[in-house]
Amino acid sequence: MIRIVQISDTHFGEEFKPEKFREAVKQINSIEPELVILSGDIVTWGIHTEFREAYEAMGDIQAEVFAIPGNHDARNDGLKYFRLYFGELKKSIRLDELVIAGINSTLPDSDDGYVGEEQRRWAERVFRKSCTNMLVLHHHVIPVPHTGRNQNVLIDAGEVVESLMLHCHGGVVLAGHRHVPYSTKLLRTHIIHAGTLSSYKVLMPDNNYNIIEFEEESIRLKLRFVHRGEVEVGRFAIKHGMPSSVELYRSLSSTKRVLFIASDTAAAERAASLFNRLSPENMHASVTSPESRRIGELLEGADYVVALEEFSRADEVWEKLSTKEAEARVRQVIEKLLGAVA
Ligand SMILES: [Fe+2]
Ligand SMILES: [Fe+2]
Repeated sequence: MIRIVQISDTHFGEEFKPEKFREAVKQINSIEPELVILSGDIVTWGIHTEFREAYEAMGDIQAEVFAIPGNHDARNDGLKYFRLYFGELKKSIRLDELVIAGINSTLPDSDDGYVGEEQRRWAERVFRKSCTNMLVLHHHVIPVPHTGRNQNVLIDAGEVVESLMLHCHGGVVLAGHRHVPYSTKLLRTHIIHAGTLSSYKVLMPDNNYNIIEFEEESIRLKLRFVHRGEVEVGRFAIKHGMPSSVELYRSLSSTKRVLFIASDTAAAERAASLFNRLSPENMHASVTSPESRRIGELLEGADYVVALEEFSRADEVWEKLSTKEAEARVRQVIEKLLGAVA
């Protein structure tokens, strides 16, 4: 079993409640987690003195602290101080069969969040299919209810969620930001939000943090209030493998590259040109001849290969077909391919 404590939104500086932090550290040390994950908003204004104070206070936590930045940390160019005291903005760690990738979802001069393609691809490379994979970021990937603000502020949340479903098998997402603990499941991905550990902006009965225990096939989640005891949220099965619906939608929406092959390339050019006018937006045809030196490479890059001869009668010459007849042949190709897509 691997036990992790998730703390978030400590907000050193103006919003900070030191008595909550001190008490929580005592409790966390007695829990003896293998890792403490700090999901951003370590400080309030992103200024150096706040970060230094936070760093010194975090030194009382006996376990390793794995921290990623939040929108408040990024204020006033604060990420340079984050790096100074808490390391890289994106980082990964592996604890046995649990792989953890932490990313920076902050934007300069904004409270909104953005992950971006480069970080999504990086996390996909970090994740392992045979492991339970965890993505840690500050902003939430789906809206958190009962927070007083319903907007989803992670701009590329759709892309992040799809990336998780495709690559984060048996996945878990940890986030903070809203100061409200919440947990839900999106298909096979378990999403866990932490509340605020020590900010006075608390919407719950008390400041709080999460205790998450990983076993081979399940996650046990407990919500711990600093001065008001502990609630067991539940035990949830970890399911590996990708939901088939995600693969299906992805396949339907992806661009289909269609390769027309004919020894009569002029005929193939005409067919491809009609095809590109008549086919759905996500289909695109190109042309080659069986003698082409690039044929291997072209076949590899194609989703569908159409031999033009299959759609012509033996005695037929494509150049001599009327536009109406040629269009009818191309429509047959499209119908066949659409059948293959469905
Ligand atoms: Fe916060
Ligand atoms: Fe935040």
